[in-house]
Amino acid sequence: MNSTISTILDREDFTRQNLSLLLQSQGADRDYILRRAAEVKEKYVGNKVYFRGLIELTNCCGKNCYYCGIRAGNRNVERYMVAGDEALDAAKYAFEHKFGSVVMQSGERLDKSYIKTVARLIEQIKEMSGGQLGITLSMGEQTAETYRRWFESGAHRYLLRIETSNRDLYYKLHPHNKRHDYENRLKCIKMLRKTGYNVGSGVMIGLPFQTFDDLAGDLLFMKDFDLDMVGMGPYIEHHDTPLYKFRDTLMVPHERFELSILMVALLRILTKDINIAATTAMQTLHPEGREKALQAGANIIMPNITPVKYREGYLLYNNKPGLTEQTDEIMRKLEKQILAAGCTLGYGEWGDSRHFAARKELK
Ligand code: 5AD
Ligand code: SF4
Repeated sequence: MNSTISTILDREDFTRQNLSLLLQSQGADRDYILRRAAEVKEKYVGNKVYFRGLIELTNCCGKNCYYCGIRAGNRNVERYMVAGDEALDAAKYAFEHKFGSVVMQSGERLDKSYIKTVARLIEQIKEMSGGQLGITLSMGEQTAETYRRWFESGAHRYLLRIETSNRDLYYKLHPHNKRHDYENRLKCIKMLRKTGYNVGSGVMIGLPFQTFDDLAGDLLFMKDFDLDMVGMGPYIEHHDTPLYKFRDTLMVPHERFELSILMVALLRILTKDINIAATTAMQTLHPEGREKALQAGANIIMPNITPVKYREGYLLYNNKPGLTEQTDEIMRKLEKQILAAGCTLGYGEWGDSRHFAARKELK
Protein backbone atom coordinates (compact mmCIF):
# COMPACT_ATOMS: atom_id res chain seq x y z
CA MET A 1 0.00 0.00 0.00
CA ASN A 2 1.05 3.56 -0.67
CA SER A 3 2.21 5.11 2.61
CA THR A 4 1.09 8.57 1.47
CA ILE A 5 -2.53 7.36 1.59
CA SER A 6 -2.28 6.11 5.18
CA THR A 7 -0.40 9.26 6.25
CA ILE A 8 -3.15 11.47 4.85
CA LEU A 9 -5.83 9.39 6.57
CA ASP A 10 -3.97 9.14 9.89
CA ARG A 11 -3.25 12.85 10.07
CA GLU A 12 -6.69 13.73 8.76
CA ASP A 13 -4.89 16.06 6.40
CA PHE A 14 -7.81 16.50 4.03
CA THR A 15 -6.68 19.25 1.70
CA ARG A 16 -8.31 19.54 -1.68
CA GLN A 17 -5.17 18.16 -3.29
CA ASN A 18 -5.02 15.20 -0.93
CA LEU A 19 -8.68 14.37 -1.43
CA SER A 20 -8.21 14.48 -5.17
CA LEU A 21 -5.36 11.98 -4.76
CA LEU A 22 -7.45 9.72 -2.51
CA LEU A 23 -10.26 9.75 -5.07
CA GLN A 24 -7.89 8.30 -7.65
CA SER A 25 -6.60 5.46 -5.49
CA GLN A 26 -6.96 1.87 -6.62
CA GLY A 27 -6.33 -1.69 -5.45
CA ALA A 28 -4.94 -2.01 -1.90
CA ASP A 29 -5.10 1.78 -1.34
CA ARG A 30 -8.75 1.84 -2.21
CA ASP A 31 -9.49 -1.16 0.02
CA TYR A 32 -7.71 0.61 2.86
CA ILE A 33 -9.90 3.71 2.47
CA LEU A 34 -13.04 1.55 2.42
CA ARG A 35 -11.93 -0.27 5.59
CA ARG A 36 -11.28 3.03 7.34
CA ALA A 37 -14.70 4.34 6.31
CA ALA A 38 -16.37 1.19 7.68
CA GLU A 39 -14.57 1.71 11.02
CA VAL A 40 -15.66 5.35 11.20
CA LYS A 41 -19.22 4.38 10.38
CA GLU A 42 -19.31 1.66 13.04
CA LYS A 43 -17.88 4.02 15.66
CA TYR A 44 -20.01 7.10 14.97
CA VAL A 45 -23.35 5.89 13.61
CA GLY A 46 -23.35 2.11 14.09
CA ASN A 47 -24.60 -0.53 11.70
CA LYS A 48 -28.30 0.18 11.65
CA VAL A 49 -29.94 1.09 8.35
CA TYR A 50 -32.96 3.38 8.45
CA PHE A 51 -35.74 3.36 5.88
CA ARG A 52 -37.39 6.32 4.24
CA GLY A 53 -40.29 5.39 1.98
CA LEU A 54 -39.93 7.50 -1.17
CA ILE A 55 -43.10 9.01 -2.68
CA GLU A 56 -42.53 10.74 -6.02
CA LEU A 57 -45.44 13.13 -5.75
CA THR A 58 -45.35 14.80 -9.15
CA ASN A 59 -43.08 14.92 -12.19
CA CYS A 60 -44.27 18.43 -13.09
CA CYS A 61 -41.29 20.74 -12.90
CA GLY A 62 -40.72 24.36 -13.79
CA LYS A 63 -36.99 23.93 -14.32
CA ASN A 64 -34.76 22.86 -17.12
CA CYS A 65 -31.68 21.21 -15.62
CA TYR A 66 -29.70 19.88 -18.61
CA TYR A 67 -29.20 16.42 -17.08
CA CYS A 68 -32.72 15.55 -15.96
CA GLY A 69 -35.27 13.46 -17.84
CA ILE A 70 -38.31 15.26 -16.38
CA ARG A 71 -37.10 18.79 -17.14
CA ALA A 72 -39.83 21.20 -18.24
CA GLY A 73 -38.55 21.23 -21.82
CA ASN A 74 -38.97 17.50 -22.33
CA ARG A 75 -42.23 17.19 -24.23
CA ASN A 76 -42.03 13.39 -24.30
CA VAL A 77 -42.96 13.09 -20.65
CA GLU A 78 -46.53 12.55 -19.60
CA ARG A 79 -46.99 14.64 -16.49
CA TYR A 80 -48.71 13.24 -13.40
CA MET A 81 -49.64 14.17 -9.87
CA VAL A 82 -50.28 11.42 -7.33
CA ALA A 83 -53.82 11.87 -6.04
CA GLY A 84 -54.01 12.96 -2.39
CA ASP A 85 -55.53 9.76 -1.05
CA GLU A 86 -53.00 7.64 -2.95
CA ALA A 87 -50.10 9.56 -1.41
CA LEU A 88 -51.67 9.18 2.02
CA ASP A 89 -52.16 5.46 1.37
CA ALA A 90 -48.49 5.13 0.44
CA ALA A 91 -47.55 6.88 3.70
CA LYS A 92 -49.89 4.51 5.54
CA TYR A 93 -48.08 1.59 3.95
CA ALA A 94 -44.78 3.04 5.18
CA PHE A 95 -46.19 3.50 8.67
CA GLU A 96 -47.69 0.03 8.87
CA HIS A 97 -44.48 -1.54 7.62
CA LYS A 98 -42.49 0.35 10.26
CA PHE A 99 -40.46 2.48 7.85
CA GLY A 100 -40.07 5.26 10.39
CA SER A 101 -40.21 8.02 7.75
CA VAL A 102 -41.31 9.02 4.30
CA VAL A 103 -39.55 11.26 1.79
CA MET A 104 -41.83 13.25 -0.48
CA GLN A 105 -39.97 14.27 -3.61
CA SER A 106 -41.10 16.13 -6.71
CA GLY A 107 -40.17 18.46 -9.50
CA GLU A 108 -39.96 22.11 -8.54
CA ARG A 109 -43.44 23.65 -8.46
CA LEU A 110 -43.91 27.11 -7.00
CA ASP A 111 -47.63 27.60 -7.47
CA LYS A 112 -49.84 28.30 -4.47
CA SER A 113 -52.12 25.36 -5.04
CA TYR A 114 -49.18 22.90 -4.92
CA ILE A 115 -47.75 24.50 -1.81
CA LYS A 116 -51.12 24.15 -0.11
CA THR A 117 -51.58 20.55 -1.29
CA VAL A 118 -48.19 19.58 0.15
CA ALA A 119 -48.93 21.33 3.47
CA ARG A 120 -52.25 19.47 3.76
CA LEU A 121 -50.65 16.16 2.92
CA ILE A 122 -47.98 16.66 5.56
CA GLU A 123 -50.67 17.41 8.13
CA GLN A 124 -52.70 14.36 7.10
CA ILE A 125 -49.67 12.08 7.36
CA LYS A 126 -48.92 13.44 10.82
CA GLU A 127 -52.49 12.87 11.88
CA MET A 128 -52.71 9.38 10.35
CA SER A 129 -49.56 8.26 12.17
CA GLY A 130 -50.20 10.04 15.46
CA GLY A 131 -47.11 12.14 14.76
CA GLN A 132 -44.92 9.05 14.55
CA LEU A 133 -43.98 9.00 10.88
CA GLY A 134 -41.02 11.25 10.10
CA ILE A 135 -41.35 13.45 7.01
CA THR A 136 -38.56 14.53 4.68
CA LEU A 137 -39.21 16.83 1.72
CA SER A 138 -37.25 17.24 -1.49
CA MET A 139 -39.07 19.84 -3.59
CA GLY A 140 -36.41 22.20 -4.73
CA GLU A 141 -35.91 25.91 -4.23
CA GLN A 142 -38.87 27.55 -2.51
CA THR A 143 -39.36 30.80 -0.60
CA ALA A 144 -38.52 31.14 3.10
CA GLU A 145 -42.26 31.40 3.71
CA THR A 146 -42.99 28.09 1.98
CA TYR A 147 -40.17 26.34 3.81
CA ARG A 148 -41.62 27.67 7.09
CA ARG A 149 -45.17 26.66 6.20
CA TRP A 150 -44.16 23.08 5.43
CA PHE A 151 -42.02 22.93 8.56
CA GLU A 152 -44.93 24.13 10.68
CA SER A 153 -47.16 21.53 9.00
CA GLY A 154 -44.83 18.84 10.33
CA ALA A 155 -41.98 18.19 7.88
CA HIS A 156 -38.64 18.15 9.67
CA ARG A 157 -36.03 17.21 7.10
CA TYR A 158 -35.31 18.73 3.67
CA LEU A 159 -33.01 17.62 0.88
CA LEU A 160 -31.66 20.11 -1.64
CA ARG A 161 -28.66 18.95 -3.59
CA ILE A 162 -26.14 21.55 -4.67
CA GLU A 163 -25.44 19.16 -7.61
CA THR A 164 -21.86 20.48 -7.87
CA SER A 165 -19.99 22.93 -5.67
CA ASN A 166 -18.12 24.32 -8.69
CA ARG A 167 -20.08 27.40 -9.79
CA ASP A 168 -18.70 27.30 -13.36
CA LEU A 169 -19.59 23.65 -13.74
CA TYR A 170 -23.05 24.41 -12.29
CA TYR A 171 -23.73 26.67 -15.26
CA LYS A 172 -22.62 24.02 -17.71
CA LEU A 173 -25.33 21.80 -16.25
CA HIS A 174 -28.08 24.40 -15.96
CA PRO A 175 -29.26 27.41 -17.93
CA HIS A 176 -27.88 30.63 -16.45
CA ASN A 177 -31.00 32.57 -15.45
CA LYS A 178 -33.12 33.60 -12.50
CA ARG A 179 -34.73 30.21 -12.06
CA HIS A 180 -31.35 28.47 -12.14
CA ASP A 181 -29.12 30.52 -9.88
CA TYR A 182 -26.23 28.93 -7.98
CA GLU A 183 -26.23 31.66 -5.32
CA ASN A 184 -29.94 31.20 -4.70
CA ARG A 185 -29.44 27.48 -4.25
CA LEU A 186 -26.85 28.14 -1.56
CA LYS A 187 -29.17 30.67 0.03
CA CYS A 188 -31.98 28.10 0.13
CA ILE A 189 -29.79 25.57 1.94
CA LYS A 190 -29.02 28.25 4.54
CA MET A 191 -32.71 29.20 4.83
CA LEU A 192 -33.62 25.57 5.43
CA ARG A 193 -31.17 25.37 8.28
CA LYS A 194 -32.49 28.59 9.79
CA THR A 195 -36.05 27.30 9.57
CA GLY A 196 -35.06 24.36 11.75
CA TYR A 197 -34.93 21.43 9.32
CA ASN A 198 -32.43 18.59 9.34
CA VAL A 199 -30.70 19.70 6.15
CA GLY A 200 -29.40 17.44 3.42
CA SER A 201 -27.55 18.17 0.21
CA GLY A 202 -25.43 16.28 -2.25
CA VAL A 203 -23.83 16.13 -5.66
CA MET A 204 -23.70 14.05 -8.81
CA ILE A 205 -20.56 12.10 -9.57
CA GLY A 206 -19.04 11.54 -13.00
CA LEU A 207 -20.73 14.48 -14.70
CA PRO A 208 -19.51 15.70 -18.07
CA PHE A 209 -16.64 18.20 -17.58
CA GLN A 210 -16.22 17.24 -13.91
CA THR A 211 -12.68 16.69 -12.59
CA PHE A 212 -11.28 14.92 -9.52
CA ASP A 213 -10.43 18.36 -8.19
CA ASP A 214 -14.14 19.33 -8.49
CA LEU A 215 -15.15 16.24 -6.53
CA ALA A 216 -12.53 16.97 -3.86
CA GLY A 217 -14.10 20.44 -3.64
CA ASP A 218 -17.53 18.81 -3.30
CA LEU A 219 -16.33 16.72 -0.36
CA LEU A 220 -14.96 19.82 1.37
CA PHE A 221 -18.16 21.71 0.59
CA MET A 222 -20.31 19.01 2.16
CA LYS A 223 -18.10 18.93 5.25
CA ASP A 224 -17.79 22.72 5.63
CA PHE A 225 -21.50 23.31 5.11
CA ASP A 226 -22.07 21.29 8.26
CA LEU A 227 -24.81 19.19 6.65
CA ASP A 228 -26.91 16.71 8.60
CA MET A 229 -27.55 14.43 5.64
CA VAL A 230 -26.17 13.71 2.19
CA GLY A 231 -27.64 11.96 -0.80
CA MET A 232 -25.32 11.61 -3.76
CA GLY A 233 -24.81 9.25 -6.61
CA PRO A 234 -23.46 8.78 -10.09
CA TYR A 235 -24.67 10.92 -12.96
CA ILE A 236 -26.54 8.73 -15.43
CA GLU A 237 -27.32 10.03 -18.88
CA HIS A 238 -30.89 10.43 -20.12
CA HIS A 239 -31.47 10.25 -23.88
CA ASP A 240 -33.94 13.17 -23.94
CA THR A 241 -31.68 15.78 -22.33
CA PRO A 242 -29.15 18.34 -23.62
CA LEU A 243 -26.24 16.67 -21.77
CA TYR A 244 -26.79 13.40 -23.62
CA LYS A 245 -24.59 14.56 -26.47
CA PHE A 246 -21.57 14.41 -24.13
CA ARG A 247 -22.13 10.74 -23.28
CA ASP A 248 -18.97 9.64 -25.07
CA THR A 249 -16.85 11.81 -22.81
CA LEU A 250 -18.07 10.13 -19.60
CA MET A 251 -16.26 7.62 -17.45
CA VAL A 252 -17.57 4.13 -18.18
CA PRO A 253 -20.42 3.13 -15.82
CA HIS A 254 -18.26 0.74 -13.81
CA GLU A 255 -15.69 3.48 -13.10
CA ARG A 256 -18.39 6.00 -12.29
CA PHE A 257 -19.86 3.54 -9.83
CA GLU A 258 -16.52 2.79 -8.14
CA LEU A 259 -15.83 6.52 -7.87
CA SER A 260 -19.24 7.08 -6.28
CA ILE A 261 -18.47 4.41 -3.69
CA LEU A 262 -15.16 6.11 -2.91
CA MET A 263 -16.96 9.44 -2.53
CA VAL A 264 -19.30 7.87 0.04
CA ALA A 265 -16.36 6.37 1.93
CA LEU A 266 -14.39 9.62 2.01
CA LEU A 267 -17.45 11.62 3.01
CA ARG A 268 -18.03 9.22 5.92
CA ILE A 269 -14.40 9.63 7.01
CA LEU A 270 -14.63 13.43 6.72
CA THR A 271 -18.02 14.03 8.36
CA LYS A 272 -18.25 11.04 10.73
CA ASP A 273 -21.77 11.33 12.20
CA ILE A 274 -24.08 12.50 9.39
CA ASN A 275 -26.72 10.38 7.63
CA ILE A 276 -25.65 9.26 4.16
CA ALA A 277 -28.11 7.68 1.72
CA ALA A 278 -27.39 4.66 -0.46
CA THR A 279 -29.13 6.09 -3.52
CA THR A 280 -31.14 4.57 -6.35
CA ALA A 281 -28.62 5.87 -8.89
CA MET A 282 -26.01 3.61 -7.22
CA GLN A 283 -28.31 0.64 -7.75
CA THR A 284 -28.82 1.65 -11.39
CA LEU A 285 -25.15 1.22 -12.23
CA HIS A 286 -24.65 -1.95 -10.16
CA PRO A 287 -27.28 -4.50 -9.03
CA GLU A 288 -25.79 -4.49 -5.52
CA GLY A 289 -24.99 -0.82 -5.61
CA ARG A 290 -26.89 0.15 -2.51
CA GLU A 291 -25.44 -2.67 -0.40
CA LYS A 292 -21.95 -1.67 -1.49
CA ALA A 293 -22.72 1.92 -0.55
CA LEU A 294 -23.84 0.72 2.92
CA GLN A 295 -20.55 -1.08 3.36
CA ALA A 296 -18.69 2.04 2.26
CA GLY A 297 -20.37 4.25 4.85
CA ALA A 298 -24.01 4.93 3.95
CA ASN A 299 -26.76 4.25 6.55
CA ILE A 300 -30.05 5.29 4.91
CA ILE A 301 -32.14 3.53 2.25
CA MET A 302 -35.08 5.07 0.45
CA PRO A 303 -37.25 2.28 -1.05
CA ASN A 304 -39.62 3.58 -3.68
CA ILE A 305 -43.23 3.36 -2.44
CA THR A 306 -44.75 5.53 -5.19
CA PRO A 307 -47.87 3.77 -6.59
CA VAL A 308 -46.50 1.57 -9.40
CA LYS A 309 -48.66 3.14 -12.14
CA TYR A 310 -46.84 6.47 -11.74
CA ARG A 311 -43.27 5.20 -11.60
CA GLU A 312 -42.63 5.26 -15.36
CA GLY A 313 -43.29 8.99 -15.15
CA TYR A 314 -40.40 9.77 -12.82
CA LEU A 315 -37.45 8.87 -15.00
CA LEU A 316 -34.67 11.30 -14.14
CA TYR A 317 -32.20 9.08 -16.00
CA ASN A 318 -32.10 5.97 -18.19
CA ASN A 319 -32.44 2.43 -16.77
CA LYS A 320 -33.91 3.49 -13.43
CA PRO A 321 -34.67 0.22 -11.57
CA GLY A 322 -37.79 -0.86 -9.64
CA LEU A 323 -40.42 0.46 -12.05
CA THR A 324 -42.70 -2.55 -11.92
CA GLU A 325 -41.87 -4.36 -8.68
CA GLN A 326 -44.45 -4.11 -5.91
CA THR A 327 -43.16 -2.58 -2.69
CA ASP A 328 -43.52 -5.86 -0.74
CA GLU A 329 -41.25 -7.58 -3.23
CA ILE A 330 -38.70 -4.75 -3.14
CA MET A 331 -38.62 -4.86 0.64
CA ARG A 332 -38.16 -8.61 0.91
CA LYS A 333 -35.11 -8.46 -1.34
CA LEU A 334 -33.77 -5.37 0.33
CA GLU A 335 -33.93 -6.83 3.83
CA LYS A 336 -31.93 -9.85 2.72
CA GLN A 337 -29.33 -7.67 1.04
CA ILE A 338 -28.98 -5.34 4.02
CA LEU A 339 -28.40 -8.24 6.38
CA ALA A 340 -25.93 -9.74 3.91
CA ALA A 341 -24.07 -6.42 3.94
CA GLY A 342 -23.55 -6.92 7.70
CA CYS A 343 -26.05 -4.25 8.75
CA THR A 344 -29.13 -4.38 10.97
CA LEU A 345 -32.59 -2.96 10.26
CA GLY A 346 -33.79 0.15 12.07
CA TYR A 347 -37.51 -0.56 11.82
CA GLY A 348 -39.95 1.94 13.29
CA GLU A 349 -37.24 4.46 14.17
CA TRP A 350 -36.74 7.93 12.78
CA GLY A 351 -32.98 7.50 12.74
CA ASP A 352 -32.38 11.22 12.60
CA SER A 353 -28.89 12.40 11.90
CA ARG A 354 -26.71 12.24 15.00
CA HIS A 355 -25.00 15.28 13.60
CA PHE A 356 -28.26 17.21 13.85
CA ALA A 357 -28.67 16.24 17.51
CA ALA A 358 -25.08 17.30 18.24
CA ARG A 359 -25.61 20.58 16.38
CA LYS A 360 -28.70 21.32 18.49
CA GLU A 361 -26.88 20.59 21.76
CA LEU A 362 -24.12 23.04 20.88
CA LYS A 363 -26.61 25.88 20.54
N1 5AD B 1 -28.39 11.30 -13.18
C1 5AD B 1 -28.24 11.19 -11.84
N2 5AD B 1 -28.93 11.93 -10.97
C2 5AD B 1 -29.84 12.80 -11.46
N3 5AD B 1 -30.65 13.67 -10.84
C3 5AD B 1 -31.37 14.32 -11.77
N4 5AD B 1 -31.01 13.90 -13.00
C4 5AD B 1 -30.05 12.95 -12.82
C5 5AD B 1 -29.29 12.16 -13.71
N5 5AD B 1 -29.43 12.24 -15.03
C6 5AD B 1 -30.63 13.88 -9.39
C7 5AD B 1 -30.26 15.33 -9.06
C8 5AD B 1 -31.48 15.84 -8.35
C9 5AD B 1 -32.10 14.57 -7.81
C10 5AD B 1 -33.55 14.69 -7.52
O1 5AD B 1 -31.88 13.65 -8.84
O2 5AD B 1 -29.13 15.33 -8.21
O3 5AD B 1 -31.18 16.74 -7.30
FE1 SF4 C 1 -36.72 19.65 -12.14
FE2 SF4 C 1 -35.21 18.55 -10.21
FE3 SF4 C 1 -35.18 17.57 -12.72
FE4 SF4 C 1 -34.05 19.94 -12.22
S1 SF4 C 1 -33.38 17.92 -11.37
S2 SF4 C 1 -35.40 19.47 -13.94
S3 SF4 C 1 -35.43 20.75 -10.66
S4 SF4 C 1 -36.92 17.57 -11.30
